[in-house]
Amino acid sequence: MKVFINKRIPETGIKMLEEAGLEILFPEKENLSYEEWMSYCKNADTLLNVGGDFRYDKNFFDACPNIKAIALYSVGFDHVDIKEATQRNIPIGNTPDVLSRATSDVAFLLMQAVARRASYNFQKVKEDNWGTFDPLHALGQELYGKTLGIFGLGRIGYEMAEKSKKAFGMNIIYHNRHSNKEAEKELDATYVSFDELIHKSDVLSVHANFTPEHKELFNESIFEQMKQNAIFINTARGGFHNQKDLYQALVDKKIWGAGLDVTNPEPMSADDPILGLSSVCILPHIGSATVEARNGMARLAAGNIIAFSKNEKMTNCANPDVYSDHSS
Ligand code: DGY
Repeated sequence: MKVFINKRIPETGIKMLEEAGLEILFPEKENLSYEEWMSYCKNADTLLNVGGDFRYDKNFFDACPNIKAIALYSVGFDHVDIKEATQRNIPIGNTPDVLSRATSDVAFLLMQAVARRASYNFQKVKEDNWGTFDPLHALGQELYGKTLGIFGLGRIGYEMAEKSKKAFGMNIIYHNRHSNKEAEKELDATYVSFDELIHKSDVLSVHANFTPEHKELFNESIFEQMKQNAIFINTARGGFHNQKDLYQALVDKKIWGAGLDVTNPEPMSADDPILGLSSVCILPHIGSATVEARNGMARLAAGNIIAFSKNEKMTNCANPDVYSDHSS
């Protein structure tokens, strides 16, 4: 069985695939064009996909009828038409859990970086503009006892809430599809409506799975209703926020600051005026970028391909319905 891997992943995953006797196709160069990527996909049986550059949709599946399974090197699967894949019985593997700590660490880091205007102050040092002790300049805000609102309390949201509770005694509120009993018991978290979430949060951190209904959910009208001291954090997907509206809300001081590990568009332009604001910290989608998380992702993704090659269920599958059809 041929597996196409579009970018190098940690060796631990490659080794697993080799030991399982699978034939691995690697691209001859980095940054493939759509056409180049397609020609590799047409020649493979399964894909281990890194990144979200190209979409797996009807057009893709029509053009690559040999593809029987895809193991994503990500927890997110917003670049896959899950319904289409399920109809075609193509399992889509993903990599949850192993990156929850690393990604929530980045949300926690951004929250503090924004609260203390770390990016702005670091920039001043780099520009040889240390300045003098000024009792009024670039003051931050403290997070102790403030309210953290989590939009999407799954594994990553839970970890962010737990760290914030332990470090700053933050009061946790959340909005989610289902209530999270563990968070309510362990973190004293309170389920609130979306409306309450945006009105009550001092820090609002996005951790939900991105679906088309969420497109630019956080826009002008939402920022307008948030607290003036609020910090908006997005480490999930850039599509959750309208970046021009976010910029305007920051300029108009509707909200206090923003920390983004994901942007809209992504990658964003270095000319985006939001980068000139002292109230933001922006990172280039590094949530899972630790040795530990990336090795874990490699093992899960490789494990999913190997399971498929043995006619077994993928351990982590975004469309488990493909299996219920077979077992019935
Ligand atoms: C994920 O795993 O979904 C991360 O955002 C990396 O794409």
